[in-house]
Amino acid sequence: MLVLGIESSAHTFGAGVVERGMVLANEKRMYRIGTKGMIPARVAELHAKNAAPVIKAALDRAGIAAEDIGGVGYTRGPGMGPCLQVGMLAAKTLADRLRVPIVPVNHAVAHVEIAKKEAGLKNPIALYVSGGNSQILRLEEKPSRHYTVLGETFDIGVGNMLDAFARGIGLNPAWGSTVAMEARGGRYIAMPYTVKGMDFSFTGLLTHASGLAKDRSRKDLCYSIQETAFAMLCEATERALLMTNSSELCVCGGVAQSERLKEMLAGMCKEHRIRFGYAGNEYNADNGAMIAYAAERLIEKGVHARLRDCDVKQRYRIEEATVP
Ligand code: FE2
Repeated sequence: MLVLGIESSAHTFGAGVVERGMVLANEKRMYRIGTKGMIPARVAELHAKNAAPVIKAALDRAGIAAEDIGGVGYTRGPGMGPCLQVGMLAAKTLADRLRVPIVPVNHAVAHVEIAKKEAGLKNPIALYVSGGNSQILRLEEKPSRHYTVLGETFDIGVGNMLDAFARGIGLNPAWGSTVAMEARGGRYIAMPYTVKGMDFSFTGLLTHASGLAKDRSRKDLCYSIQETAFAMLCEATERALLMTNSSELCVCGGVAQSERLKEMLAGMCKEHRIRFGYAGNEYNADNGAMIAYAAERLIEKGVHARLRDCDVKQRYRIEEATVP
C-alpha cells in the first residue's frame, strides 16, 4: 500500500511516501528561525502556504498520483497547536477526497520506529532527544504494546535549551547546530550538572551558562554547555541500559543529528558491548517519511480513525500512543 505521511509539529512541513516500509519520497520545507526562534502563528501560516507544494513534490518524487495513495498519516502531537492543525487539515482533506483510511501518529513513536528500522535494531532502549522532548524509552508488550518512559527531562528538552542559549548569546541561526560549530576548539568551564537516577534537568545549566555570557568566551561557553548536557544524557542512558539489562541503544530526534552526542553515546556503548545505532539525519530532523512509515504499519494492523474523530494534541505523551 502507498501511504502518505504529513509532519507539521514544529518548524518543518514534511510529506513522505512509503510503500511496504520503503521510503519513496521525503520532501520538506522549513521555517527559518533566524535569531528570534519560532513564533507558532507565523510558522503555521508558512505551513499552510507550503502544504500543497510539499505534498505535490512528494507525490512527484515517488512518481505517483494522489489517487494511488491507499492511506494517510499525520502527526497528532506532541507539538505546537497551530502547526499541528495545518498538517491535520491537509491530511483530512486528502483522506476525505480519496476515501482512504487516515491515522493520527505520535511524533515520538515515529522517530523511534524509523530509527530502529534504519539502524537494524530489534528492541533497543531509545534516547529520544529533540527541541521539546528528551526521554529515555523502552517498548513494553504488556498489558498492550506501548512505550514506557524510563527517564526524562524535569523541565525543558535539550534542543530547546541549546536553542534558548543560542538566542541569548545572539547566534544566527539560533539553534543547537550553531552552538556545535561555535564549540569547536573551546575549553571546558565547570557547569551545573543535574542527573537524578534516569531523569535530568537543563534549566540550571541554561541559566548558569547564559549568566556567564558577558565574562567568558562564546567558544568556551558553547563547548561547556554542550559537553555538560550531553554527558548528563549519556549518564542517564547508561543507567537505563544497565538497569534493564538491554543490549541495544538507538538515539533519535532532532538532537540526534549531533555528531558529538553520537560519539559520546558510541563510546559508552562500546564499554558495555551494547549495539548502538541511529538513522541518517534526514530522519532525525522532522520529516514526513517517518509519519508515513508508522502510519503504514498501523493501517496494516487495522488501526485508523474516523475523520470526525481526528484531532491534534499538543502534549501527546508517548505512553498514550498506539504503537505499530
Ligand atoms: Fe522531531
